[in-house]
Amino acid sequence: TNQEIILGIETSCDETAVAIVKGGKEVIANVVASQIESHKRFGGVVPEIASRHHVEQMTLILKEALDEAKLSMDDIDGIAVTEGPGLVGALLIGVNTAKALAFAHQKPLIGTHHIAGHIYANQLMTDLTYPLLALVVSGGHTELVYMEAEGEFKVIGETRDDAAGEAYDKVARTLQLPYPGGPHIDRLAQEGEESIDLPRAWLEKGSYDFSFSGLKSAVINTVHNAKQRNVELKPEDLAASFQASVVEVLVTKTLRAAEEYGVNQVLLAGGVAANSGLRNALKEAFDGTGAELVIPPLHYCTDNAAMIAAAGTIAYRKGKRSSLQLNANPGLEL
Ligand code: KG4
Ligand code: ZN
Repeated sequence: TNQEIILGIETSCDETAVAIVKGGKEVIANVVASQIESHKRFGGVVPEIASRHHVEQMTLILKEALDEAKLSMDDIDGIAVTEGPGLVGALLIGVNTAKALAFAHQKPLIGTHHIAGHIYANQLMTDLTYPLLALVVSGGHTELVYMEAEGEFKVIGETRDDAAGEAYDKVARTLQLPYPGGPHIDRLAQEGEESIDLPRAWLEKGSYDFSFSGLKSAVINTVHNAKQRNVELKPEDLAASFQASVVEVLVTKTLRAAEEYGVNQVLLAGGVAANSGLRNALKEAFDGTGAELVIPPLHYCTDNAAMIAAAGTIAYRKGKRSSLQLNANPGLEL
C-alpha cells in the first residue's frame, strides 16, 4: 500500500496552514492560523495584510506541524503547495517556503491547485468513487467540477461574477453585520420568513454557471427602498429570502448536473458548506437518488493544508514534480 508522507502548505488567502498527511488519507498534523481578526475591521481580506501575516506565521506553523506529527523533514516524501488560484502576494509566501524546503532537504516539490485541494478534502473522510461531481462554494469560488476519474477535473460551471460566499458577505455588510457575514445571515435566515421576492439567476437554458451579483443588488435595493419609504423591513425575512434564492439555484444546478453526468458521488466543499439551508436542501434533494452525498466536517471545508497534501499525494502518485522555478499563479486553471 501507498504510505507516502506528504507535507502540505496553503497560503492562498487569509489562512496560513501546514499539514502532514500519510497515504493521502491519514492526517497526522493539521495546523491552521486564521487571520480573520486582522481583516475584520476592514470588512474583508486586505491582500497586503494577508501576505505580512503569512510571513510572520509560516516558520512557526511549519514547526508546529512537524512537532505535532513527531517528524522531521527527513521523514517527508514530498512537499505539496498551493500554487494558485488566490492572492498573488499570499500565494508567494507558501510557494517560496515550499521551494526553500524542497531545495534544502532535496525533496520533490508538487505545485497543487487550490480547488483540487477543496475536492480532495473529501478523501480525508471517505473513499472517492468516480465519476463524481463536486460543488465548491467559498468566499472566492463557486464551481461545479465533474471528475470522470482520479486527477481528471472538468469545470462544468462557475460564477460569472461574485462567489456565493462573497454575496453572503456583501449582503451581510448591507445589514450591518460583522465580517465574515455568511454565518450571521444563515442564523438570521432560520428565524425569518421567505416573504420578499428576490430573483434567481438561472442563466441560459442548460447552463451550469452561476451569477450572484444581480441577487446581491436586488437585496441592496430592497434595503434602500425600505429606508427611503420608511417602511419596516425585517432583516431576518430578508436573510431568509436571500438564502432561499442562493440555495435553490445551487441545489437545482447540482442535482441536474449529477443526473446528466450520472455520478456516483456528490461532494461539497468550501466555507459556504457550513450553511444550514444548503446542507439541508442538498440532503433532501439527493435522498433516494443514486448519488451518495458527502459533506465533510467544517474544518476540512474551509481553507486548510491537509486538503492540499491530499490532492498533492494524488499528483505525486501520478508522477507530477514541479521545478524550483515554480511560481505563484493567481489565475491557475484546474
Ligand atoms: O472556504 P472559506 O473559509 O474561505 C475562502 O476560501 O473563501 O469560505 C469563507 C466564506 C465566507 O464568505 C463566509 O461568509 C462563508 O464562507 N460562510 C458561510 C457560512 N459560513 C461561512 N456562508 C453562508 N452560510 C454559512 N453558515
Ligand atoms: Zn478555498
